[in-house]
Amino acid sequence: MSTQYIITDNPGLTGKIQSFSQQVNAKIIDIEDIIINPSFIQSTNKFILVVFYLNKETILTKHKQIRNILTINSNFLAMIVVNAPFEEDVLTQTDLEKDLYYSNIEFTVPPVFLVRNFINIFSLLQMRKEGFELQYKFNISTSHISKLTRIGMSLGNEKDFTKLLRDILFSAREICIADGGSLYLVEKDENGVPKNLRFKVSALDLKTSEFLMPINKQSISGFVAFTGQLLNIPDAYNLPPNVEYRFNSEYDKIKNYYSKSMLVVPMKNHTGEVIGVIQLINKKRNFNQKLTPEQMKGSDVTSFDKYSEDLVMSVAGQAAVAIQNNNLIQDIEKLFEGFVTASVSAIESRDPTTSGHSFRVAEFTVGLAKLVDSLDDGMFKDVKFTYDQMREIRYASLLHDFGKVGVREKVLVKSKKLETYQLDIIKWRFYYLIKDLEPKFNQKKLDYLKSNGSSEFTSYETKIDSEFALEKERLSNLMEIVIKCNEPTVLEQSSSNLLDDIAKINYEFVDGSSYPLITEFEYNFLSIKKGSLDLKERLEIESHVEHTFQFLSKIPWTDGLKSIPKIAHAHHEKLNGKGYPRGLLAHEIPIQSKMMTIADIYDALTDKDRPYKKAIPVERALDILKMEVKDNHVDNDLLNVFINGKIYEILTPKVTDHIA
Ligand SMILES: [Fe+2]
Ligand SMILES: [Fe+2]
Repeated sequence: MSTQYIITDNPGLTGKIQSFSQQVNAKIIDIEDIIINPSFIQSTNKFILVVFYLNKETILTKHKQIRNILTINSNFLAMIVVNAPFEEDVLTQTDLEKDLYYSNIEFTVPPVFLVRNFINIFSLLQMRKEGFELQYKFNISTSHISKLTRIGMSLGNEKDFTKLLRDILFSAREICIADGGSLYLVEKDENGVPKNLRFKVSALDLKTSEFLMPINKQSISGFVAFTGQLLNIPDAYNLPPNVEYRFNSEYDKIKNYYSKSMLVVPMKNHTGEVIGVIQLINKKRNFNQKLTPEQMKGSDVTSFDKYSEDLVMSVAGQAAVAIQNNNLIQDIEKLFEGFVTASVSAIESRDPTTSGHSFRVAEFTVGLAKLVDSLDDGMFKDVKFTYDQMREIRYASLLHDFGKVGVREKVLVKSKKLETYQLDIIKWRFYYLIKDLEPKFNQKKLDYLKSNGSSEFTSYETKIDSEFALEKERLSNLMEIVIKCNEPTVLEQSSSNLLDDIAKINYEFVDGSSYPLITEFEYNFLSIKKGSLDLKERLEIESHVEHTFQFLSKIPWTDGLKSIPKIAHAHHEKLNGKGYPRGLLAHEIPIQSKMMTIADIYDALTDKDRPYKKAIPVERALDILKMEVKDNHVDNDLLNVFINGKIYEILTPKVTDHIA
């Protein structure tokens, strides 16, 4: 109900219309009083309907003050009745708009005419007021509809779950003009029965850690989760005596807060199941208004109305859908994560010595990417990775060596140039040769005895035995050379020369046929200058990158992850174009791959001892990476970020343990 006033300069008006006071229903105020003290207009936000009944002289002399009064409060609706006579040209001499004038009535007319005039004006102002109120409600509804649409869209697009929950709570508070609030999610037991509410976010203190609250009728949020009913509580400290739930005021005490009005709503999914609870606290008039605990206890906090209930239910419905969608996406991601982890573990089980390599490379690469992303100056200041791009980097790193599935296991795990059984065959040839010396030297002794008898045989035998021993030792030494050549370390020139000599040695079989001590096939492997692989095997190992690319290209990645095959494909490329498989140049290699290359080399160097290589200490590994930069294999700036940011410390250095 609005308040009505007649503001006049005529002291006789009150007496004149006194008998009509009930019909007019307005308080009569002197114009001078309101000019001096307009505070009652300022301090209200209700509509004030006013009729000015003034003489021409008052209008001409006080029109500026009247104008000021009209502009004090936007809820102030007024019309002017002039105590006649009043000529039309006077209208142009004041600051007052022409349409403020309603009529021109002399004070001397019978009171009933004056009163009728006033009643008509108040009816007109009342209609205007209702028009404004309808317009206001329409504007509010339009704004709420657009807010709800915006909330629906933004909740649907938010992938970060924590941020999604905060957005839901903020949206609910904003649309209902609530000072505080919390959001809880339902947690089920192992049988799928709702058991607890997990406190997730609060508008009052974001640092509050998560806690659990049983779903039952004893707490306010528990009651809502248990029954699926909305609770609209005008005053939490004065709950009706017959309700089952109780208000826990601990939080208010700790945080110096005063929870008065509450609106607590369930978030239900499409099957009507409660998946969470939104609790709004203290409805206020202005969302940005900061309230003191004293204000919260007073009239600055009001009850939530029915309209707020409808609005927050709408937000809760959209929130439930968004939370479920987000959960579904997380489930899919978990499923995919499990598949990737299982695949990587399966591949690494083929070569146990590299176990964990892909996971570590992923950790290092993502760590480096995060640091690069965070840099605000320097050459990487514009390099930023989105959430999806970070995931791309991680999956590309995890799967970068997946193509090893296409490499034969004996090549993959090969630790020596010749396999054990192949080296054993050569050793047996040496044993055969050594054994074959025995009859040859015995024959020499027999020939001596036949020709010379036993005379001085002892000294001859000593000489022959010594020659025999020397020959045996020579052959044993040559065998050791072969064994040494079979190691994957750098082949020394002296060993290489001796190997060439050994390759020329033949041995005779019992039937008199002659065979080389080491075959051409064996020689080719033993003469490998470094490592254990010949060219063909090396190419087979290198083919893992192409296999990785082919495999990853068959996966129907979503748009945000579609670069994974391309990133993984380039992890053995070098800046100078001498990498494989495509010999890309620096500008053709994605920065993600350049980061992965650093992580890949670092981990391969520092990983635990392998049969074909020793683990290298961190410092030495970083020096080797710096040498890779000098050779224009690896990106210098990215390596600097890797080293300066101590990315290699993300995982406990393995080699430090090894050295210790
Ligand atoms: Fe690789
Ligand atoms: Fe690798």
